[in-house]
Amino acid sequence: MSAVKSLDGPQSVELFFNPKSVAIIGASAKQKKIGYVIAKNFIESFKGKFFLVNPTLQEILTHKTYPSVKSIKEDVDLVVIAVPAKLVPRVLEECGEKGVGAAVIITSGFNEVGGEGTKLLEEILEISKKHSIRLMGPNCMGVFNTSSMVDTLFIPRYRLKRAPQGKIAFISQSGASGIAFLDWAAGERIGISKFASYGNASDVDEADLLEFLAADKETKVIAMYLEGVKEGRKFAKIAKEATKTKPVLVLKSGATYSGSKAALSHTGSLSGSDKIFDAVVKQTGMIRVYDWEEMFDIARVLAYQPAAKGNKVAVITNGGGAGVMIADEIEHHGMKLAEIEEKAMPELKEKFPPHVTLRNPLDLAGDADNERYQIAIKSALDSEAVDSLLLVCIPHTPGIDLESFVDMVVDASSKSKKPLVVCLPGGRISFGIRELFEENGIPTYPTPMRAALSLAALVKYGSLKNNDLDTKS
Ligand code: COA
Repeated sequence: MSAVKSLDGPQSVELFFNPKSVAIIGASAKQKKIGYVIAKNFIESFKGKFFLVNPTLQEILTHKTYPSVKSIKEDVDLVVIAVPAKLVPRVLEECGEKGVGAAVIITSGFNEVGGEGTKLLEEILEISKKHSIRLMGPNCMGVFNTSSMVDTLFIPRYRLKRAPQGKIAFISQSGASGIAFLDWAAGERIGISKFASYGNASDVDEADLLEFLAADKETKVIAMYLEGVKEGRKFAKIAKEATKTKPVLVLKSGATYSGSKAALSHTGSLSGSDKIFDAVVKQTGMIRVYDWEEMFDIARVLAYQPAAKGNKVAVITNGGGAGVMIADEIEHHGMKLAEIEEKAMPELKEKFPPHVTLRNPLDLAGDADNERYQIAIKSALDSEAVDSLLLVCIPHTPGIDLESFVDMVVDASSKSKKPLVVCLPGGRISFGIRELFEENGIPTYPTPMRAALSLAALVKYGSLKNNDLDTKS
């Protein structure tokens, strides 16, 4: 029997992310089946014990199978259920008799379809209560934890490369939104700590997961995709506590009449009033975003750069047009261009050619080389008038030595407590160096708007936290 199954609070969710032993019920040898992909994930990388359950097979991928969960002699902490809906109550009852602590129910066909499905959900909730089994789902993708390598995602790894270990946790009511985020993260080498898709939220809901992740030492930023909130008061109370420890981003859909109807048939969620949700966001100190891209951009800046102590931004560029666009975006997002301090002027005048005008945005011109950037970056980061630095680099110009440019910026950033983000416009050449920056914790963006929006999140988080949380560690 599991040691933690009867506890309330964040510990009760722990079994989903860090089980010692897992049984996959509905494991299959057929490559296109959900039960095959999940079994293969566990075979390839799970760090604990796992058991494959299928009543008709002897083995799957050379691993022994068990006819039922009860035929497994050892303890089972967590089960992953991928059998058709009508079989789930019987399977869950057996799990209860076995003493299983938690179940991820991948299966669809419950309250989101109504009628018989709603009855089936009531049945499994009763069984879970009787045996104190925590449920995730049904109708979900379940869990991915980059440290224990619990991976119940049924998307094959050749289609969805798993993101590396990192500081961002993502919880999502929708499996597809989760996949979009994870694929993006893997593609850009952005690290994930934990992921959960919790579907119909019949038992474990957004508030339980938020509470767990707020206490999780591997997580620095929590990003959430919601279609509805199951228990408003519980969620608001936990969110208020969570934002005291780390930033919480929230993307909530179902804001319109059509969106709320779609949410009801997708995960059985009641979207509620968007105005009320907005008020909850403000009261609890969460940061609301409106699109996957925005969530991804802001999550990574909050994970790797410190909160800004104020809203004064220095902009350094080698492209005048980009500088003008950034200046607009800075103002649009409630920030201000910092003044270049008088005391910095003599040195800059001496070291820069006459065609570099000393104003912010500081346009170093198309013939700028790494050294010119280095002088400007040091001056900005050392200046008391500057709270953060937005660096633009058009990497195509001949003066820039690309690899040592990345090293120089990373080095300057590591010596400063001020946030720094990079805007790297363009295609092929930019992609390569963006990856190098990201690997070193410097968020980069292809457009002025995305770079400024992300920097603004650091300013907002800084003011929410009263500047007392240093995330640069
Ligand atoms: N214990 C263990 N395994 C059992 C079993 C039991 N009591 N009863 C049946 N099985 C086995 C089956 O024999 C089958 O294995 P096989 O491939 O060797 O024949 C396997 O479990 C799966 O059962 P099957 O009847 O083939 O179902 P399926 O794979 O076609 O569909 C689901 C099962 C869960 C995938 C499907 O019902 C479903 O819900 N799909 C949608 C999932 C989804 O989108 N979720 C939301 C994501 S966001």
